Amino acid sequence: MRPETILVVDDEKLIRWSLKQNLQKESFNVLEAETVQAALDRVSEFEPDLIILDQRLPDGTGIEFIQKLREMSFDNPVVMLSAIDTSNIAVQAMKLGAFDYIAKPINFEELKIVIEKAMESIRLKRQIVLLRNEQKKQFGNFTIIGDSPVMKKLFNMISKIAASDSSTVLVTGESGVGKELVVRTIHTLSERKDKCFMAVNCASLTETLIESELFGHQKGAFTDAKNLKKGMFELADGGAIFLDEIGDISSSLQVKLLRVLDQKSFKRVGGTSEISVDVRIITATNQPLEKKVDEGKFRADLFYRLNVVHLHVPPLRERGNDILLLAQYFLQEFNNVFRKNFKGLSGETKELFLRYDWPGNVRELRNVIERAVLLDEGDYIFSHDVELGHLNTLSKKENAAYPITNNNKSLTFSQIERNAVLDALTKTNFNQSQAAKLLQISRDQLRYKMKKLGIQSSKQ
Ligand SMILES: Nc1ncnc2c1ncn2[C@@H]1O[C@H](COP(=O)(O)OP(=O)(O)OP(=O)(O)O)[C@@H](O)[C@H]1O
Ligand SMILES: [Mg+2]
Repeated sequence: MRPETILVVDDEKLIRWSLKQNLQKESFNVLEAETVQAALDRVSEFEPDLIILDQRLPDGTGIEFIQKLREMSFDNPVVMLSAIDTSNIAVQAMKLGAFDYIAKPINFEELKIVIEKAMESIRLKRQIVLLRNEQKKQFGNFTIIGDSPVMKKLFNMISKIAASDSSTVLVTGESGVGKELVVRTIHTLSERKDKCFMAVNCASLTETLIESELFGHQKGAFTDAKNLKKGMFELADGGAIFLDEIGDISSSLQVKLLRVLDQKSFKRVGGTSEISVDVRIITATNQPLEKKVDEGKFRADLFYRLNVVHLHVPPLRERGNDILLLAQYFLQEFNNVFRKNFKGLSGETKELFLRYDWPGNVRELRNVIERAVLLDEGDYIFSHDVELGHLNTLSKKENAAYPITNNNKSLTFSQIERNAVLDALTKTNFNQSQAAKLLQISRDQLRYKMKKLGIQSSKQ
């Protein structure tokens, strides 16, 4: 990977020099500028990954510079340097989208933490852009986020299955893993893409309804059948039909489906003539079908015909860092929807997400992010902002670095966070700058947390 480039904008030569020395030691490529104009030139020429920006420059202010960056649609992070008397301006800069600010005199350790956070957030964003571009080539308009080995294997299978035009596919996986997304992607990539795609949820319809939905009915076939109705198999001729939750169908429907698979024909309800169709059948289930076969609840012959090609979508907890990629992806989605500007997850939230076992899988993660973005304000999603359904399942996961509940199961996340904030404030005699440093967050974030957690700004 090429080294990341940081542009240091400050009119004081000594500051530029010392930052350069320090940043180069961290293997960054460092550019310098001492005026707004020079900085703008460097930005258009080199597109730095991050900018460290002083407030007062000979030909303008840092704020003006940020405004110009926005006009140029440059949105890599900017870290403001602020002297005590310019901290208001720094806050204003944050409102304009600066990533963070640190106080002068510069504490390099503090700066390093801020830079690392900023870099991490752009790395994630870039990884998503790369993935989406790659997937556009591979999967058209469907985006299935994932970079883990298990998901890469799945993507390969999807491409192959889509190409083998008419084989029957069974997609399995826990609830919310993305089975439907996978099925739609397969169809869109196949040669049948311009033909009809019909989706039926087998669990949501009664037996009679589902039969007439699938196979249609003759006029007068039953009381409500006032007109002839074509069923989905007829409508999907040349295309594909997706039978979701196939594990739930009745035994009589199992027989009828078997017939369609064997003979590629069926009769409408109440009809006598055979109708022939060419339909690709894709089914999905979150139930263990093989077990149902063993128990005699699902026909073995049907199972083998549906299971010509089997695709298993792995649970989210087996996808490692994909959890963070997906979280960032949904964060961007809901930032747009709710006009918010969350930059990422706090370190603690990331750890929590990586150790949680996500029984509701991707859908659960998407809901958690949607809720947090809707209800909260600020730059980062903190662990007390997220509500996970089954916190007690955390301990089930092995290899946890340390128990997330601080060994004390009765503490909630906000209580733990409250303790940490109070602890830092007490240690620093309620000096907010120092407490923020201890907690490795910005002063704004500390104030935000204090307000949220109901902590007073001085000792009682
Ligand atoms: N890899 C992924 N990348 C992006 N979005 C995803 C991914 N996987 C799932 N989603 C999203 O998560 C949600 C749930 O996915 P989907 O409905 O396909 O799951 P499912 O396995 O069919 O669930 P169920 O078993 O409940 O029917 C959808 O909003 C889907 O777009
Ligand atoms: Mg589904």
